[in-house]
Amino acid sequence: TQVREYNWTISEVLSTPGAMQKPMLVINGQSPGPIVEANLGDQIVVHVYNNMTNQTSMHWHGMHLKGQNWMDGTYSITQCGIPPGGMMTYNWTVQNTGTTWYHAHMGVQYTNGAYGALILHDANETAMLSHPYSDDVTLLLNDMYNTQAEALLWRMQAIGTGIDGQPGDEPAPDGAMINGVSQARCAYLPASNLVIPERKRSLVDRSDTTGTYYPETNYCGNETTEYYNLTLVGNSTYRLRLINSGTLANTIFSIDNHNLTIIEVDGTSVEPVTTGSVNLAVAQRASVLVTLDQEPGAYWIRNVLGDDQIIYTPTDLNLTTLGVLRYSGINESVLPADVPADDNMTETDPFYRFVPADAMDAPAPTVQQTVQFNSQYVADNARWMFFNSSSWQPLSSGEASIFLVDDYASNVTALESNTIGSQLNIVNTNASGVMDLVINNLDDGNHPFHLHGYTFWVMAQGDGHFYGDTSSLNVTNPMRRDTTTISERGYLIIRFLTDNPGVWAFHCHIGWHMENGLLMTITNLPEQVAAFDVPSAIKDLCTVDSKKRR
Ligand code: C2O
Repeated sequence: TQVREYNWTISEVLSTPGAMQKPMLVINGQSPGPIVEANLGDQIVVHVYNNMTNQTSMHWHGMHLKGQNWMDGTYSITQCGIPPGGMMTYNWTVQNTGTTWYHAHMGVQYTNGAYGALILHDANETAMLSHPYSDDVTLLLNDMYNTQAEALLWRMQAIGTGIDGQPGDEPAPDGAMINGVSQARCAYLPASNLVIPERKRSLVDRSDTTGTYYPETNYCGNETTEYYNLTLVGNSTYRLRLINSGTLANTIFSIDNHNLTIIEVDGTSVEPVTTGSVNLAVAQRASVLVTLDQEPGAYWIRNVLGDDQIIYTPTDLNLTTLGVLRYSGINESVLPADVPADDNMTETDPFYRFVPADAMDAPAPTVQQTVQFNSQYVADNARWMFFNSSSWQPLSSGEASIFLVDDYASNVTALESNTIGSQLNIVNTNASGVMDLVINNLDDGNHPFHLHGYTFWVMAQGDGHFYGDTSSLNVTNPMRRDTTTISERGYLIIRFLTDNPGVWAFHCHIGWHMENGLLMTITNLPEQVAAFDVPSAIKDLCTVDSKKRR
């Protein structure tokens, strides 16, 4: 094992990822940020310097962090924000492996560019050992907005604006990206300037009506036909690591004329599935094998935004971004022959149930909890989202749940329920417990849910709602993953061991929904949480009363 040490500076720069200039967040000057690559058992040390005017935090998506909950990087839950000009050292051990990513976990910062790939190798990984490949390539696939995310969020939450559709609707993306490269097409820009509505509010404090945004501009300043370029050797097989690092939309990934064989999903090696395209919801990942078995030439790589996540997209908006796969020896200037956008790809079902290659049956549950979620127009005509009667918002600045476990004592707590800013929290006190969490979706959209600190068993998912007993569910080798989609008006049942002490977020990974409150926490073993030996430099990011901080 090895120590992998990084120095990162997060700063805000003006950049033009698509057609318009906007403030972006970059890590050491780049977005996506640097790839973090390590082996099982390695120690990751990242010194994060905050060179922005807002606070921030950095999250390692999918990492188990057993005994290291305070390294999870969830703002207001496992830490307070790194202040402007401040620094925090993340120092954690690689306990589980596969293809994943890191991203800022405060507000909608990652939508502005603060994210990157996290690739963790295991010498005994079945996906690797049973499918030889000559190299691997990481592809971050996401939706892209021409406007700063905080401005879009504010507009979504503001009274009666309805710029992208109905008031309160999620902002529709302006395009897509492959490893940060997008094509800006002026033809698809709205005909008239977007208008900032009657009030302006601070990005930091939403009650401050005097603050201003970076002005939205809507000219097409940058029509570009730049493509992401990838050159690989013919007759070889590669592992492409696909990561949906987006905010709203599913990504449907394909390479013209080439089949893809899925071998890993969210860090779990799976029985191979061969398909024409791969559909990933926000924050999901898959590794696919591709063999360069076609005529040497150039082929389109496609990141098509899809699924019903984009409800109010103008019909002429072309939400595809293209890259070019070239066989080695093909000149960089050669572009693929045009093929119709719909090239009859077979598409994986976004709800496809993969089968883990390393079989593991699920243990019997010891505790079952049922929650439901929905969206309600209760304030500012925005679609605030509720778990039971709680709509999560960060605690007051200077407080984080991990230091307030006394307030989370009872089994299920909804502090200040029925209000925006209340916190639904489920407590597990049994170190050898097995928890079933049943989630019923009363909303009419699909939602990709993520549980921090775990690779959970997906016990069941389907249409309608589940109010039964989970103890008779089939336990034979269920899929294990960390992000899974609940269908519209459907349900999901996940199972996990309650042996990982900490306060773990469980939330919809659509950035707009998380910010509108679709987040709850699971607190395991509160006595151990209270006894955590959190480094004082991290505690000191908070300002809460030291008695409460234990
Ligand atoms: Cu990808 Cu709460 O995180």
